[in-house]
Amino acid sequence: MGKILNIKKKIKPFNKSIFVEGDKSLSIRWVLISSLSKKKSTAYNLLKSEDVMSSINCIKTLGSKVKFDQNKCEIIGNGFYIKKKRQIFLNAGNSGTLGRIILGLLINSRNKIKLIGDKSLSKRDFSRVIKPLKKFGAKFNAKKSLPLIMKGLENPKPIKYFETRGSAQCKTSIMFAALKAKGTTEIKAKKSRNHTELLFKYLKIPIEIKKRKNFDVIKLKGVKKINCLNYKVPGDISSCAFFLVLTILSDNSQLLIRNVNINPSRTGVIKILRKMGANISFKNQKIYKGEKIADIFVKSSKKLKSIDCPIKWNSSAIDEFLIIFLVAAKAKGISYFKNLDELNQKESPRLIWASKILNFMDVKNIMTSNSLKIFGNPHSILEKKIVIRNFLKDHRVFMMSAIAALTFGGNWKINDADSIKTSFPKFLKILRELNR
Ligand code: S3P
Repeated sequence: MGKILNIKKKIKPFNKSIFVEGDKSLSIRWVLISSLSKKKSTAYNLLKSEDVMSSINCIKTLGSKVKFDQNKCEIIGNGFYIKKKRQIFLNAGNSGTLGRIILGLLINSRNKIKLIGDKSLSKRDFSRVIKPLKKFGAKFNAKKSLPLIMKGLENPKPIKYFETRGSAQCKTSIMFAALKAKGTTEIKAKKSRNHTELLFKYLKIPIEIKKRKNFDVIKLKGVKKINCLNYKVPGDISSCAFFLVLTILSDNSQLLIRNVNINPSRTGVIKILRKMGANISFKNQKIYKGEKIADIFVKSSKKLKSIDCPIKWNSSAIDEFLIIFLVAAKAKGISYFKNLDELNQKESPRLIWASKILNFMDVKNIMTSNSLKIFGNPHSILEKKIVIRNFLKDHRVFMMSAIAALTFGGNWKINDADSIKTSFPKFLKILRELNR
């Protein structure tokens, strides 16, 4: 059993302003991109979490030099080629983003790469990157999951690929491989977060993007080297989402969350919560190196409505559904969330977990393999004892449970408090500050 969080009381009303930590997707991408430049790259507000530290450890193994002080990280990369002679051993820990993207980055490595991960990552699907990387010419000893061994090739051939899942990790893995292929790779990709496209554009890498209704067509030319990337990482909207819902479901509270990334490919949670009646506004909007940033202001909402959630918003809210389901549990009417099979492919099977936690909370719900119907009740009162045994240590299952305990009541024991180190190490510290 890991560290247990006990919560017995709802949170007191609050009126504060906070920062959440740096965006995880951007932090990992910055580390991996910087490893490809031989010049020094500097980042401020890089997320200091286990997923990002695993990324740093991997690029160190590959030959990059890294200095990470309080709020500043410097990387001098090893360029496009790995000089090591023997098999390279990499550990992606809990991070699907790192595990999948780094395989693309290593497409031109003639060393054997052995990639492992923790218990949760070892259950996740890697066929989604193995398939396109094989088209570039890489060889694998596995079909589907970790541990695996990959062998790249000196001159990968550009490919044409249709990415049908809407997985940004898969798209980005192909984009990193395309950087090293001679010629133009063409990816038709179902819509997903576009941070890599924006960073590549900013670095003046030859990339052309055509936006269609349901997918983008990306044409990317291979290059021989890239420039360094100096970056100030904005706050993570996925971390921010827990505090949006905390405020919405608390009495007489309001919160300003400063300097958050509001890239439209990430703001499905805002669209969904607003449609359910939440009071959320953006202040001080600006553009930073292609990314939209704003302060987000949110207030308690007394009248929440159910939603038939449009599937076109799924990809831009994919990491936020667990916390959105809590709002549905307090809303008037039946909410319906569909086409969410990908939720069961995350750090743990999250659709199954959501239904399980709602059952513990006596919130009626009907789950299928890819959908969830939630019968909301604005007047629900929770007084029972609830124990969450989070076997795969899923950080978002932990944080969802903590927010449920603080807003619905009851006597909760939640496992495993250490899981927040994956994406949001300051989560409990910020909660304590709000509850003072
Ligand atoms: C991420 C993409 C999403 C998301 C994950 C981070 C990324 O996963 O769930 O937390 O940084 O590219 P998929 O690519 O599997 O959709």
